[in-house]
Amino acid sequence: MIDRLLQEHDNFKVSFEKIEKFVNENEIKQAITTINDMSEAIIRHAVEEEARLLRVIMHKVKDESSESIKIMQEHNWVVDFLKHKLINIENEVYHHQQQQQGQEIKRQIREFITNLRNHFSEEEQIVFPLALKSDSS
Ligand SMILES: [Fe+2]
Repeated sequence: MIDRLLQEHDNFKVSFEKIEKFVNENEIKQAITTINDMSEAIIRHAVEEEARLLRVIMHKVKDESSESIKIMQEHNWVVDFLKHKLINIENEVYHHQQQQQGQEIKRQIREFITNLRNHFSEEEQIVFPLALKSDSS
């Protein structure tokens, strides 16, 4: 299962590069479409991490779980961005985009991608190894 979650991270990372490329080329609508297209898969992925990885960690190595719990809580801002912030960004882009807002929108999208990349690294370095270890103990 962890192999599949890692594979999903790799697939998401390919999409991140596409999104950044669109942002750099001022193709904001394309960037938003790409995020929307992966939104459901990211949320499903996050729910699965919480349900399965955190479950085995809490069951087997609870005393080592605090960092992993913190990392899983980062899913809150991921879901918040995908379910709420992205809609606001979309409205701004489609209805009244001005130069200044355009810069702010780009900043927000870039920040989301950067944060999500960091989040994946934390999972790969801390949560996944701990889940593997606890699963075999
Ligand atoms: Fe995650």
